[in-house]
Amino acid sequence: MKKHKIHSPVFITIFGASGDLTRRKLIPALYNLFIEHQLPVIFEIYCVDFMATELAAFKKNLLDGVNEFSRTGVAEITLWNEFSSKLFYLQGDFLEGSTFSKLREHADNYDIQNQRRGIRMFYFATAPRFIETIADGLYKNKICMRPLLDRIVIEKPFGTNLETAKKLNIFLAKRFYEKQIYRIDHYLGKETVQNIMAFRFANYVFEPLWNNKYIDHVQISVGEQVGVGKRGGYYDGSGALRDMIQNHLLQLLCIVAMDAPSAYKAELIRDAKTKVLKNIRVLGEKDVFKSVVRGQYTAGAINGKPSPGYRQEEQVAPGSTTETFVAAKFFVDNKRWRDVPFILTTGKSLPKQVSVIVIQFKDSPNKIFKTDVVPNRLVISIQPELEISLLFESKVPGLEMKLQAVDMDFTYQEAYSESLPEAYEALLLDVLEGDPTLFMRADQVEEAWKVVMPILNAWSKYPKKKLHFYKAGTWGPSEALALIKPYANKWFQLPRYERLVEKS
Ligand code: BG6
Repeated sequence: MKKHKIHSPVFITIFGASGDLTRRKLIPALYNLFIEHQLPVIFEIYCVDFMATELAAFKKNLLDGVNEFSRTGVAEITLWNEFSSKLFYLQGDFLEGSTFSKLREHADNYDIQNQRRGIRMFYFATAPRFIETIADGLYKNKICMRPLLDRIVIEKPFGTNLETAKKLNIFLAKRFYEKQIYRIDHYLGKETVQNIMAFRFANYVFEPLWNNKYIDHVQISVGEQVGVGKRGGYYDGSGALRDMIQNHLLQLLCIVAMDAPSAYKAELIRDAKTKVLKNIRVLGEKDVFKSVVRGQYTAGAINGKPSPGYRQEEQVAPGSTTETFVAAKFFVDNKRWRDVPFILTTGKSLPKQVSVIVIQFKDSPNKIFKTDVVPNRLVISIQPELEISLLFESKVPGLEMKLQAVDMDFTYQEAYSESLPEAYEALLLDVLEGDPTLFMRADQVEEAWKVVMPILNAWSKYPKKKLHFYKAGTWGPSEALALIKPYANKWFQLPRYERLVEKS
């Protein structure tokens, strides 16, 4: 385990200090890094926001957040006091220059006090409309100028379409070097997602099979039990395609489909992923309605409790056509993957949280047994169970040659006793260490937008066409099954992953 790898002092700024992300994810992640001796010894965290608040009340709110959301549970009070003695609140409007000049003063004084210029990290935990304003404030006040020491971290959504993403990239490129910009996709920080790279490239046994000769199809599903909750205002202008497919699911696809980079180096890995995105077959308008199914949840019940329909959620337009479910079939047109469907599904208000990648191998050409043989399947479960399992045929003990499919399982819980670091812990540490491997480069973001643009365009041209409804607490519209039907009969029943077993 790496500890205190960073020897420079660190000056962290979080814009959007009173937001949900800061309380739920960022501060718990920084606190955990601190208690596990991963943060540098010398650090300060400045939290900037518009609201007036007493420092003590602000810290208390963050402590409550740690107690509620941290994977390490309730904070140890002496450790929290030590950590929070380095936590400050700076009240300021992002639109006003004085906010940035005050911030600069703090940053400069911090360097003087430490007698050296440290690392600066500026985290944009704000609504997207503030990105340009904050970037400009930092630039004009010369706070984030040093390419090797100063970094900005930007949350998704990165643009709302290809055009706005390009504009934002150009805007940022005029103010910062690309290597200073960390576009975060928290899925890439998940332990299980990082493990896919290890699994693929450190185990040579799979590589010869990892292509269209042996793989029938790939399914990448991220199902959520939660609905949009209080995020209706954002979500209604976004929808599942922008919110999940354009970033998280396409990134998972890239990791599954990429060629091995020649070394574990950020740019080589990012190049390999970008190549996959460039090879994804562009959908025509007609293909969109054949290859992509969209849905929206109506009132239903989850776990026996009534659950509202999407149109009844706070800040959602009563006649909204925004999709809360997407199932999409993509093809990666290169030698390795030609004709192998990648079926991506995601949805909200489903019966439970399930995120899995299924690599379905082809049927064996050797038909020497009288009984049916179930093709091999590799299941990588990302959450809530963290496990990898390989399905294979085995002989049932006894005098007859009877076969049965069994699972060979690797579960994190059984293999490791430590609790796994949260995605944000890994990612924040990477930013501080200046490692951009798990972050999105400008061209990656744009290529991912190119993949989804034909779908967005077709849907905005025909907002109601083939918008299917599903009850909250069900596995999405039945029409989505049509996409997977040609392959579904090859799927084996695995009770944990109900989504995968629905049969015609
Ligand atoms: C976010 C989306 O990026 O990811 C949310 O905006 C979604 O809508 C969330 O709920 C899912 O993340 P996780 O880590 O809970 O799977």
